[in-house]
Amino acid sequence: MSTPTAVITGITGQDGSYLADFLLDKGYRVVGMVRRSSTENFERIEHLRGKLEICQADLLDQLSLINLLRQVRPREVYNLASQSFVPTSWEQPVLTGEFTALGVTRMLEAVRLVDREIRFYQASSSEMFGKAQEVPQTERTPLYPRSPYGVAKVYGHWITVNYRESYGIFACSGILFNHESPRRGKEFVTRKVTDGVARIKRGLARELSLGNLEARRDWGYAGDYVEAMWLMLQQPRPDDYVIATGETHAVRELCEIAFARAGLNWQEHVVVDPKLVRPAEVDLLQGDASKAKRVLGWQPRVSFRQLIEMMVDADLERVGAWRPPLGNEKLQTDN
Ligand code: NAP
Ligand code: GDD
Repeated sequence: MSTPTAVITGITGQDGSYLADFLLDKGYRVVGMVRRSSTENFERIEHLRGKLEICQADLLDQLSLINLLRQVRPREVYNLASQSFVPTSWEQPVLTGEFTALGVTRMLEAVRLVDREIRFYQASSSEMFGKAQEVPQTERTPLYPRSPYGVAKVYGHWITVNYRESYGIFACSGILFNHESPRRGKEFVTRKVTDGVARIKRGLARELSLGNLEARRDWGYAGDYVEAMWLMLQQPRPDDYVIATGETHAVRELCEIAFARAGLNWQEHVVVDPKLVRPAEVDLLQGDASKAKRVLGWQPRVSFRQLIEMMVDADLERVGAWRPPLGNEKLQTDN
């Protein structure tokens, strides 16, 4: 059998890098799509240099997506690129809609025009449940997004379903609950906390400012979740799946575990900054992934505690190795 080829959009992001690791291990030819930038940001895929092919295209530019698929002729496309940070979606709602909503249609149009046999994965989100209408949330739970990001993801989800039903494209939507790792962006709360713990432990900061400590999320490990994306595209029929751990934890519990791992008491360091509270909050997410377990045979392997401790350990090691540049040794405050 010939080597399968996959295109990953969002290859420079957290999930793109884990999915590339996973597919390369399976013997795939992997082509990562990057948008043009004046400086490279390949930190998360540095270890894959020489194994990955990189092509430039942009979710804002339809022709670039068509040309990408024409050149590469993939069997699978994983559409992971988006503006993924919820607070930014209130600052830049239109741009978020362009990337996170219309970008999906542009990618699907490229599939439709170039090769309808391509199998397509869309990175949908538990943020679509927003003001959750039931607990736990399943594939049938009504959607009620609470941010421009969530609204854009609802569009991306339904356009994926629509292209499946309109054109018979093998298009799947993975409704993934929050998933984290040492490669998570530092603006997201898990990594903000584990990075903050490491900086406090190493004497580079004293405090960590956070917003809503009572928000609850169903947090899993990104390395486990990319396997579910691949499994969806190996099935006889395309479908949509919730991917989650089934557990929910508060930001407060995340702080307790992370600070304790470094021998610190979180209450001595965490301060609540009302400016970090969101205009509309998603209070509670908890997923029911029993369909994924039944049909895909998927289940998470890393527990919440293991995940947070893995992230704290990685940040302690990274910050331990860091030294302030000469002439700039002043104690740094939180970002
Ligand atoms: P991430 O780390 O923020 O990565 C986002 C990626 O999208 C980056 O590679 C970014 O490229 C790329 N991108 C943004 N705009 C683009 C454009 N116009 N053209 C091409 N590429 C563009 O996100 P992630 O955590 O890996 O998440 C992957 C996907 O899953 C996202 O769609 C996210 O919304 C969704 N999702 C994530 C979670 C989660 O908990 N992580 C849960 C549910 C759904 P640059 O490096 O150039 O910025
Ligand atoms: N980022 C951040 N920073 N969040 C904070 C803070 C803080 O200082 N303090 C409290 N929180 C709370 C937020 O209010 C939110 O309720 C929760 O922590 C999680 O925030 P994030 O880690 O930013 O993630 P998110 O749930 O908004 O969005 C992530 O998960 C979605 C899936 O549900 C992103 O990865 C999205 O792209 C993804 O779709």
